[in-house]
Amino acid sequence: MRAMVEAFPSLLSLTKPDPSIMTMASQAFSSGLHGICIAGMGGSAIAGQMAKALLAQKAQVPLITWRDYELPRCVTKDWAVICVSYSGNTEETLSAFETAKKVGSALFIVTTGGAILEQSKDLPVALLPKGIQPRAALPVIFSLALPIVEALIGIDSTDFSKLSVVLEGLVKRWGNEIMSPRNLAERISSLVPLFIGSGHMVPVSYRAKCQINENAKTVAFSAELPEANHNEVEASHTYKEYGIVPIFLRSTHESKKMSARFEATDAVYRQSDCAPVHVRLSGLSELEETLAIAHYLDMLSVDAADIREVDSVRVDKIAELKRRLAEGF
Ligand code: PA5
Repeated sequence: MRAMVEAFPSLLSLTKPDPSIMTMASQAFSSGLHGICIAGMGGSAIAGQMAKALLAQKAQVPLITWRDYELPRCVTKDWAVICVSYSGNTEETLSAFETAKKVGSALFIVTTGGAILEQSKDLPVALLPKGIQPRAALPVIFSLALPIVEALIGIDSTDFSKLSVVLEGLVKRWGNEIMSPRNLAERISSLVPLFIGSGHMVPVSYRAKCQINENAKTVAFSAELPEANHNEVEASHTYKEYGIVPIFLRSTHESKKMSARFEATDAVYRQSDCAPVHVRLSGLSELEETLAIAHYLDMLSVDAADIREVDSVRVDKIAELKRRLAEGF
């Protein structure tokens, strides 16, 4: 897992969608789409959530994500649906795929194979490389899914080769501008991280929670601002008792109002003897920040796994759940 996470920057430029897929996406945009839905679960869902957080405000139609069976009723033949499943066998994603087929939406598939590929004979499929853990495949999934979404909303495609170089360079700032992932992992090793982000950092905080769960096999939470100021904050006096450490994922693109909220939240938490950790990297675009902080926190989860002496690759409980569901528990 460490090697896969180290490869995060290079995975961003490993592959790109076939030109024919991009043409189909541009044609779908020109036909006047009514909305775009990105369906997928777990490690295969996060790229869609990031794409939504980065692009929803630029899209002239609703851009939604779906992590469930079927699809919402608003998704019709005039929508585009992108189904992402690393294995191609995830029950919920297959259900969303079948629903999209039934309603006649413009379908795009991102997968390595499995049942979804078998059932996608005449459909545009962006093929993922095999042999990576789904959650570690985030950069490659993102580099295939984001350009499709960009074409579906009629904007220029991101240059992933450039992005890959930028991310490579940012690793050198770990341990200088921000604490190294290893040091942070040591600092929080007996604590429960609560990742808190706002705007485009919301999926990054959720991703970090999931990475700690799946890689380090331990409990973690995520929340978002401003919402957490209206509920979560009331529990902050118990953070010390439960060993919770808030980790604020800051953005240089935060509005003044949002920065004020982070600082006020920090002050309230400190009154309960709980000092939040602030994670930020300066001088980056929203897209670069999203991926750079996700990469940094992915490494945190691997370091946390090492400290806890657990295997960060195996996800036995997820596999058992899938097996039980397939066999009728
Ligand atoms: O990280 C994981 O292994 C999981 O979160 C999977 O991504 C999730 O179970 C969905 O499977 P798939 O990515 O194959 O659709």
